[in-house]
Amino acid sequence: ASVGVIVVAAGSGTRLGYGLPKAQVPLAGEPILAHALRGVLAAGVAARICVAVPAGDTVLRKLCAGFAAQHPDVVISTVDGGASRAASVAAALRGLGDGVDAVLVHDAARALTPPEVFQRVAAALAAGARAVVPAVAVVDTIKTARPSTGAEADIAPEKVAATVDRAHLRAVQTPQGFDAAALARAHESLAGLGPGEADGITDEALLMERGGVDVMLVPGSAQALKITTQLDLAVAEALLAARQP
Ligand code: C5P
Repeated sequence: ASVGVIVVAAGSGTRLGYGLPKAQVPLAGEPILAHALRGVLAAGVAARICVAVPAGDTVLRKLCAGFAAQHPDVVISTVDGGASRAASVAAALRGLGDGVDAVLVHDAARALTPPEVFQRVAAALAAGARAVVPAVAVVDTIKTARPSTGAEADIAPEKVAATVDRAHLRAVQTPQGFDAAALARAHESLAGLGPGEADGITDEALLMERGGVDVMLVPGSAQALKITTQLDLAVAEALLAARQP
């Protein structure tokens, strides 16, 4: 089966506070996207890779062209991303074109995802799954909150509403893998959504769940952390330093 990988790298990265698109932010001296692409290529599962970059970005396009030149066996292309993550995925799906049976959607921000995670997702698809996501157990105790009222509001703005049973919770990561036709159909159903509604679609698996498709879980990795804040960047730097032989 032929696998296409979408790398979404069109986010603004405002929470990192660098004044640069997140995928350009340096991690151990190289843009975050370079690490992400190296991970995808090391997994050896992709026949094609399409990267959604911020509209008008030339730095990341040039980076992708460099990877394409070094990897003539893999078709590596770029597209302008959209206003939401879902719009960036839709653009990259068109960029991948026909001719792939399975699509993996990966966040550039999960730049240090080990190759094994890609391989597990690809293997589950090859075994017949239509949707697969990597997941890890949640270590924190999670509670839901509601606004405090009356005199309570002077003490603290919120209070606990309930405690969720942690045993059933999973934090999901990327790459998320899908049957290509099923993902394309799910995205067609989004065509009429406004940008506000599209913002609520934080991953592709959600679209599958809504469509009644079973989403299979395979083990993720702590190393697949999503680089969002300065703290995450420091953790990623430390992980990379520990990987050096
Ligand atoms: O904003 P958040 O961290 O949830 O974004 C997750 C991923 O989606 C990031 O890799 C980001 O680059 C990507 N993204 C995108 N286009 C957008 C928004 C986010 O490609 N408009």
